Amino acid sequence: MYKADIGLIGLGTMGSALALNIAEKGFKVAVWNRTAATTQAFVKEAGDLAANVVATQTLEELTAALKGPRAIILMVPAGAPVDQQIAALDPFLDAEDMVIDAGNANFRDTMRRMEALARPFLGIGVSGGEEGARHGPAIMGGGDPAHWARVEPILTAIAAKFEDTPCANLMGENGAGHFVKAVHNGIEYADMQLIAEVYGVTRDGLSMDAPAIGEVFAGWNKGRLSSYLIETSAAVARAHDAATGAPLLDVIVDAAGQKGTGRWTAIEAQHLGTPIPVIEAAVAARNMSAQRGLRADLAESFGGVNEIDIPIDTLEAALTCGKILCYAQGFDMVRAAAGAFDWSLKPEVIARNWRAGCIIRSAMLDDMAEAFETAPDGTLMSAPYFADILAETIGALRETVIAANGAGLPVPAMSAALAYFDTMRQARGTANMIQGQRDYFGLHGFERLDNGAKDQHGPWADD
Ligand code: 6PG
Repeated sequence: MYKADIGLIGLGTMGSALALNIAEKGFKVAVWNRTAATTQAFVKEAGDLAANVVATQTLEELTAALKGPRAIILMVPAGAPVDQQIAALDPFLDAEDMVIDAGNANFRDTMRRMEALARPFLGIGVSGGEEGARHGPAIMGGGDPAHWARVEPILTAIAAKFEDTPCANLMGENGAGHFVKAVHNGIEYADMQLIAEVYGVTRDGLSMDAPAIGEVFAGWNKGRLSSYLIETSAAVARAHDAATGAPLLDVIVDAAGQKGTGRWTAIEAQHLGTPIPVIEAAVAARNMSAQRGLRADLAESFGGVNEIDIPIDTLEAALTCGKILCYAQGFDMVRAAAGAFDWSLKPEVIARNWRAGCIIRSAMLDDMAEAFETAPDGTLMSAPYFADILAETIGALRETVIAANGAGLPVPAMSAALAYFDTMRQARGTANMIQGQRDYFGLHGFERLDNGAKDQHGPWADD
């Protein structure tokens, strides 16, 4: 009996989908799960693919079933379970055996593990949900190129393809893969929030029902907003509840869940000093959504919102504009991290890697990849193709934010996008006032505009 090419631990939704994907691509995969019943159920469901699956009952059996040097994918919940699994596995491994964490790990944990482990270790971000894991996810690798090369044939075989190019690439050293996945999820949060705000404007400002909004989204999906998240939103808005016949969207509680990756992105942006206000607004909006009781009380106290009159085309352009600004912020964060962590992150490689398989895949990413090929160090806002679209659509974003604000409709991510744009294109900002204030109360000093002299102080007027 020939040995398995790769091992996989953790047969939850994502793990089992990934294992079937590996088996389907002709690789033999040895699997193990903490609960044996899950393994049995998995083998049953594998059908014909079970021929490429070795189901094992113990970690010893799992490691014995693998070719050396071994490679074992962990698909267990992020955090302590990963450390526990690594520790449990370690006694059965040889020095050159490799562990691959394919969960949604915090990249700082990945860096710590890589540093602490005396064996090859890869941290890979896997995006695309269950469907992606089963039929082609986007894979963002982090670690040593030699270690990546050992599993590259399997990872590229199972990955999504954009015009035959696999969306599986090494992003950079150590934690880079999980960092890029976190940025992906930050953008995912922001893109979802921007769409939810447009949904709010159409529902509450234009009094459209969910199926009609779904039609609008489906139409937009044929244009430059074409993306998995718009397609998803159209499907969500068009669905009906089997029990009541009502639009399904209308029976869903308006409190968003979150597992934490978007929050990590916002926290990390603060560490890096990179402005990502659209992503931060999206994280804050999820937190606000969770405060349902308080929102209900305040609605009683302060009343509702007014209708507005805004063309659907304006909303489409506003969403396009907001989307470009949120991607621009995500890529700015990538650039900052490359410097801070000494990673060889390449924005064009990341954009290409996101073109298929992942949740934020969209028609725009191909153009973004092209923009970064030409100017890898620039911001998306000044790439000619996107600068033209921003110039064309910023008026629509402004019109939408003004109309929504005027009617009392919340559009926090769109407002943040507009404020970001207005701030970043203001050559003479207002932080001179902040510097004056800091010097007034704390003698922090300021730099003079006219001659560049640093550490200057008042005198300040007393009254
Ligand atoms: C992906 C998704 C995936 C998942 C998030 C959900 O790329 O496939 O990002 O990882 O959707 O874990 O995150 P929240 O629960 O925080 O929304």
